[in-house]
Amino acid sequence: MAIVSSEPVRAESAESPEKLKYRARILPQIASRCLICEAPPCTDACSRGLDPAAMLRSVRFDNIAGAAESFDASLCRDCAGSCETVCPAPCGAIEIRRAASLLGRSERRGRADLSIEFCGVKCENPFFLSSSVVASGYEMCASALRMGWAGIVYKTIGCFVPEEVSPRFDALYGSGSFSGFRNLEQISDHTTDENFEILARLKREFPTKVIVASIMGRNEEEWTYLAKRSEECGADMIECNFSCPHMSVHGLGADVGTDPELVAAYTAAVRRGTGLPVLAKMTPNLSHMELPAVAAVRAGADGLAAINTIKSLSGLDLESLEPGLSVSGRSAVSGYSGKAVKPIALRFISDMANCTELSGVPISGMGGVESWRDAAEFISLGCSNVQVTTSVMEYGYRIIDDLIDGLSAYLYEKGMSNVGELVGSALGTICRSDELDRETVEYPKFDRSLCVGCGRCYVSCRDAGHQALGFDRLSRSVRLDPKKCVGCQLCRLVCPAGAITKSKRIPKKKL
Ligand SMILES: Cc1cc2nc3c(=O)[nH]c(=O)nc-3n(C[C@H](O)[C@H](O)[C@H](O)COP(=O)(O)O)c2cc1C
Repeated sequence: MAIVSSEPVRAESAESPEKLKYRARILPQIASRCLICEAPPCTDACSRGLDPAAMLRSVRFDNIAGAAESFDASLCRDCAGSCETVCPAPCGAIEIRRAASLLGRSERRGRADLSIEFCGVKCENPFFLSSSVVASGYEMCASALRMGWAGIVYKTIGCFVPEEVSPRFDALYGSGSFSGFRNLEQISDHTTDENFEILARLKREFPTKVIVASIMGRNEEEWTYLAKRSEECGADMIECNFSCPHMSVHGLGADVGTDPELVAAYTAAVRRGTGLPVLAKMTPNLSHMELPAVAAVRAGADGLAAINTIKSLSGLDLESLEPGLSVSGRSAVSGYSGKAVKPIALRFISDMANCTELSGVPISGMGGVESWRDAAEFISLGCSNVQVTTSVMEYGYRIIDDLIDGLSAYLYEKGMSNVGELVGSALGTICRSDELDRETVEYPKFDRSLCVGCGRCYVSCRDAGHQALGFDRLSRSVRLDPKKCVGCQLCRLVCPAGAITKSKRIPKKKL
């Protein structure tokens, strides 16, 4: 039986800065406990005709403003909260009415155009499913396309059907959701003919959507053959899988992507088989992605896709010494994806986007995209297309709602009329570390009204910083010694209350 709060809901109207800060902090915490149920009981139970599940999902996926627009929280006033009574969350019902009271009501904002050309192909928005389990059959792809995904990169097609292991997946968790994800899956387990029939049917039935054939040959003849078949079935584009990190046969996947000569040879083989736009999908399991990327472009690739998964292991059960993702007691190095890999993906994207020889080459970015904010970051660093797998595996195709809504509202607020204006707009902010400003400093700024007196900033500064903070146990308050502070801002990063911000940048005092 779920625990239900009997507190009445107060309508909160004034949007003071304090309230906005509080909302930004508390709402996501409430929503993070939501189980994101299928056929959500809370929505079914709502006697006011609201959709609390969609509201919580929007908050969860960083679209609080969108949630506030579409959820009329005033209707929750004086409600007994049947939505909470039926909530199956194991540690007590989600406080839906509290979330509603914090949400406020906002006017409908404008929306910018999300349509964009990618490698000369028109896309209704920048969001594609990436090649993986999430795009591995007709029904799956059809339902994703109906729900609003602009395109699918179909599960990699080869001329052989691989023998797969069981289990194939492992997850690392942070606050109840995947922080990282490991998989040991290879390419499609349908036959080549079955796969091309599925692609042909998808293109026939969804002519305005973008169908991308991901392919992997074992030699030049196979690459050329698969490229030809992709074009014959009506695909709009081809993505070459030069990047799967755990193929059970040597010389495939990442073995190709780490060898610029092989990348060039296989890209040229694909080019011989097709006039379609060709993407080279790159592996992050190397130090300089630009090298194989340049080789692919010189050999005829029209665009680049990155990143595929990162070689990884996921720990051991210390009782049995059995590894994570254990297959009959043993595991193997395999691909890591999801939230944890986003910083690594962004690094490779910006390396390629900043590479002179790749200037103007379209990039499709992926690796840890979950919310519209993640997508906006990839786009700002040079991607004109964004692909997703792991968060769809965890939450389903429905995350497309908030990807689209959040991104188009953000662009509108930024005064951009279309998503193309965002592409690469942040690239100038990335430079070499020797080019960074080392003459000025930004001290932390403490907001006493938000400080909860936990002393975490003090502990971290004492044990990992420059001992610039003092902590008074009686008043549970901290004091900064500006003479010792170097502005590293570890205190800000560990503060659980959002009470520490940055101050103005000022010249460093010279000794
Ligand atoms: C279960 C699983 C299967 C995958 N299969 C393929 C594949 O067949 N071909 C391919 O190019 N990439 C494959 N990938 C990699 C994804 O397309 C993507 O590059 C990677 O997971 C990073 O994106 P994400 O963090 O959104 O998952 C797979 C990933 C996962 C998790």
